[in-house]
Amino acid sequence: MPSLISGTGRYLPEKVVTNADLEKVVETSSQWIVERTGILERRIADENQSASDLAVPAALAALEKAGAIPEDVELIIVGTSTPDMLFPSTACFVQSKIGAVKAVAFDQLAACSGFIFALATADRFISSGVYKNALVIGAEVYSSIIDWTDRTTCVLFGDGAGAVFLTAGESGSGVLSTHIYSDGSKSDYLSAPGGGSVHRFTADMIEQKKYKLVMHGNRTFKVAIKMMKEAAEAAMNHNGVTPSDIKLVVPHQANKRIIDMVAKQLGMDRSVFYMNIGHYGNTAAASIPIALDEAIEQGRAGKGDLVLLVAFGGGFTWGSALIRL
Ligand code: UT7
Repeated sequence: MPSLISGTGRYLPEKVVTNADLEKVVETSSQWIVERTGILERRIADENQSASDLAVPAALAALEKAGAIPEDVELIIVGTSTPDMLFPSTACFVQSKIGAVKAVAFDQLAACSGFIFALATADRFISSGVYKNALVIGAEVYSSIIDWTDRTTCVLFGDGAGAVFLTAGESGSGVLSTHIYSDGSKSDYLSAPGGGSVHRFTADMIEQKKYKLVMHGNRTFKVAIKMMKEAAEAAMNHNGVTPSDIKLVVPHQANKRIIDMVAKQLGMDRSVFYMNIGHYGNTAAASIPIALDEAIEQGRAGKGDLVLLVAFGGGFTWGSALIRL
């Protein structure tokens, strides 16, 4: 019993921060940001908005489109690397805030691949018959871990949330496959090292900004292209489909140049790849479900179409999902 995407939803905070705004904060230029990343602006959450606050409207929108109510939900998984707290899980906060009283709820931590990992997990629970449905959410407040004095990272990220509501469907449709991968040997390429049991909360740790995101951008860039290409190929090979069968690719939105290179290396037309990085920047685990919801709303893919999701993130983690809508 595969899982069908019965509804999608998204929420972006209202506050828009443009490249021109960042030119006033760090030594950068809008031209550099646009040329090197494709980003024009990003949304930033209010200081009192948590990841679960962003997740709730996205989740409710997905449920509404599916014609479901919170009391129907059996499983909630939130992909996030900027959780409300170390614990309880952000998913537990979402469960409580929407009143999904029957649902079991937990988080999945795989940085920018968090949504694909959460989707893979929820799909297994549904296909094995344990649960009849699941809310799968990507929700991030990266502004809370960004060092706003570091021009190499602060121009890249944004906040937001996206959600899908999965229900048990018929074979031949829904989530046809998921492939997920990890390589912990590259953990220091992209991390937020402080606040756990390695760099504990001390005045020194805070002074050294160890709780902020750090990234070796260029090294990460090269691995991201290779792994996203391989994950996309794994999905197509597993299902015996070719690039021409794919109606839409929804890639993680980290950098326009990464998306261009992945399309080129797969021999696929760039127009098949959905891109909204210009307006939201990199929203980590939220980027794919936000983009999927927008793409469906714009009619870029509809019922019966094959859609390929592909992600890459810190860990390293990466993966893909092939879906027939
Ligand atoms: O989402 C999960 C995974 N994340 C990614 O996949 C992101 C991967 N990385 C990237 O997208 C790119 O590597 C970046 C956009 C982060 C950087 O682009 P790049 O072409 O790899 O640039 P670079 O790091 O090699 O830096 C080139 C130059 C450097 O100056 P020098 O040393 O050549 O003088 C940087 O200091 O650009 C400089 N630079 C900037 N200049 C103006 C770095 N950031 C900025 C900035 N404004 N914001």
